[in-house]
Amino acid sequence: MLLVTAPTSNIGSTLVDLLLQQDADLRLIARDPAKLDARVRDRVEVVAGSHGDPAAIDAACRGVDAVFWLTPNDPAAATLDASFADFARPACEAFARHGVERVVGISALGRDTPLADDAGCVTASLAMDDTIAASGVAYRAVVCPSFMDNLLNHVGAIKEQGRFFMTIDPDLEAPLTACSDIAELSARLLLDGTWSGAGEVPCLGPEDLSPNDLARIASQTLGIPVAYQQIPNHAFAERMSGFGMGQAMVQGLIDMFDAKNQGLDTARPRTPESTAPTTFATWCRTVLAPAIDS
Ligand SMILES: NC(=O)c1ccc[n+]([C@@H]2O[C@H](COP(=O)([O-])OP(=O)(O)OC[C@H]3O[C@@H](n4cnc5c(N)ncnc54)[C@H](OP(=O)(O)O)[C@@H]3O)[C@@H](O)[C@H]2O)c1
Repeated sequence: MLLVTAPTSNIGSTLVDLLLQQDADLRLIARDPAKLDARVRDRVEVVAGSHGDPAAIDAACRGVDAVFWLTPNDPAAATLDASFADFARPACEAFARHGVERVVGISALGRDTPLADDAGCVTASLAMDDTIAASGVAYRAVVCPSFMDNLLNHVGAIKEQGRFFMTIDPDLEAPLTACSDIAELSARLLLDGTWSGAGEVPCLGPEDLSPNDLARIASQTLGIPVAYQQIPNHAFAERMSGFGMGQAMVQGLIDMFDAKNQGLDTARPRTPESTAPTTFATWCRTVLAPAIDS
């Protein structure tokens, strides 16, 4: 039996489809099971509740061999740890209590660089990995650069203003990854019962691209003007606070993007094993274009 947390997430929902294609025996834990597709609900067990809730995650872990772990980035969290390591603590206790053997978690690149000591959300994500690994389960952190799918948050700005805004240096070339590739790698790890111990599995898209490259490729693929505009940290903070994000998460994102600007995501050399297949142009055609058209 496999347990999938956050099955309504971008990565989790794709992962559930991939595991069902392999006829895996699945249990999902979801705050609102009604959000799950009916064709999925009919083929899985569902535990209603948050995977951060001790009683819900305890019930969900009974009889489970392996768990997919995705921590929600809680915009209202009082501290970053509350959204990462502390959120995982009840689950870590449940893994030990129920003899869960393996956990595959979603995390971030950066462990190999001193920049990771002060990289906001990334620092907190790596501390979460350490907490899960210390629980005694075999653990693989799928470590990722920024997701291509983050651009979906900018669809309104692209449609209305023909531009998207971040604090990243316009010319900084760095890897990106499509969420569909992260789900495929996670499925492979969950279905493989042979690994043990703790470690990281990097998942990097096939090319390093700058925000200006993203704008150029998006523009070519979509056939509309798309430009990138770098904004200062204070403007980013105002924007995020305007969306209702609390101080801890706003600062966590600012510190993370500052570290990325200094090379956080480029420290790990790409290898054939760490290279995921989806190019940014393909992602634009298959994911961004339909979102722009909708
Ligand atoms: N974005 C990046 O560039 C990047 C890079 C590296 C790592 N990551 C990591 O990737 C993860 C995000 O993945 P994603 O984009 O696939 O996620 P997503 O689509 O944003 O989905 C978030 C999920 O969290 C669930 N959720 C929210 N609050 C919850 C709570 N209190 N208790 C239980 N579940 C809750 C949501 O469920 P509901 O349906 O109930 O709302 C949803 O399933 C994060 O852990 C992030 O740190 C992101």
